[in-house]
Amino acid sequence: MDTRAVNARASTTTQPHRGSAPARRVFVLGATGTIGQATVRSLLRRGHEVVCFVRSRAGAGGKLTPSDSANLLVGATLRYGDVADPVSLVRDGFRGERFDALVSCLASRTGAPKDAWRIDYQAHAEALAAAREAGVTHFVLLSAICVQKPLLAFQHAKLAFERELIGSGLRYSIVRPTAFFKSLSGQIERVRQGKPFLIFGDGRLTACKPISDGDLGDYLADCLHDASRFDRVLPIGGPGAAITPRQQGEQLFALLGQPPRFKQVPVGMLDAIIGILRVLGWILPAAAAKAELARIGRYYATESMLVLDPATGRYDAEATPSTGRETLFDFYARLVKGDAAPERGDHAVF
Ligand SMILES: NC(=O)c1ccc[n+]([C@@H]2O[C@H](COP(=O)([O-])OP(=O)(O)OC[C@H]3O[C@@H](n4cnc5c(N)ncnc54)[C@H](OP(=O)(O)O)[C@@H]3O)[C@@H](O)[C@H]2O)c1
Repeated sequence: MDTRAVNARASTTTQPHRGSAPARRVFVLGATGTIGQATVRSLLRRGHEVVCFVRSRAGAGGKLTPSDSANLLVGATLRYGDVADPVSLVRDGFRGERFDALVSCLASRTGAPKDAWRIDYQAHAEALAAAREAGVTHFVLLSAICVQKPLLAFQHAKLAFERELIGSGLRYSIVRPTAFFKSLSGQIERVRQGKPFLIFGDGRLTACKPISDGDLGDYLADCLHDASRFDRVLPIGGPGAAITPRQQGEQLFALLGQPPRFKQVPVGMLDAIIGILRVLGWILPAAAAKAELARIGRYYATESMLVLDPATGRYDAEATPSTGRETLFDFYARLVKGDAAPERGDHAVF
């Protein structure tokens, strides 16, 4: 199914970006995800021709029908198939046509080891081969800043593909963003209901420079013409200073006009949960999968989403580049007013 004709009628909502570089033919993976949607909008605003390869049941929990996806990605051409199947990728996706660039926001929705290796590594490796056949000369990859300290299966899977892309000889831009707004907005409802804001330790164990979906979409789209982003691994955060979970809670209480109330959760509790699930995992595969999710939770409770200085082993806010305009606290203000809604995905922990 090709929705280009349907979408072309509605494409007036995405005006070409003034002063942009020549339009390219861009093949997009992961277009139905949070950052994928924002990136497609940015690419279209810059006047590119965008072809998205998506699942016929997309979105968290497969809740999006083809027409839902088409409504989310107005102005782009949608093609349906299975990105994890190299035959489908070529037959239903590239279809023997030429493309200039591939932009991938594809990522395992669960972060579970098997899915991460299948999607974050294997599907990308197949897409790289197919893209080369289709004449693609530039591969823009959405990765994650946390791969600089890989302790989790999904981080190893992402890194394995990053290495393959770097060694491929194709022009690459590997974008490693800090935390997304949706990952830092999960507690607004409990705070609104008068419950305390949950923090690990004293709430100052970690910090990040949150980046909005739109600012990251623009950054990814601009990789296609900004030569300073060619053949580079690009850590990137949003505007302003780094903020801790405690500061996030304080700001939410201030916006809601409530005195700050925190509940401190010891990191040791996560360790105990991981230990129990790991032992249960020897006999129950479901418990092993939950143990990996708990390990992911522990990682984000204790590691900052900032550039890591390899010399000192410390996270460095000053060394973490910034882009864009929207701050997390602008977004919280919109959430509190009801002008925005937090998105909850399959893996709310990250
Ligand atoms: N959350 C954060 O704070 C954060 C921070 C830095 C970096 N990151 C990284 O950013 C990346 C993207 O994040 P996001 O929030 O935009 O992800 P997301 O909303 O979960 O979207 C993932 C995309 O990948 C697609 N996908 C997943 N499994 C698939 C499969 N088996 N077959 C076909 N398509 C599949 C999804 O398609 P469907 O809609 O069909 O499922 C969706 O389009 C991830 O790599 C994440 O590690 C996240």
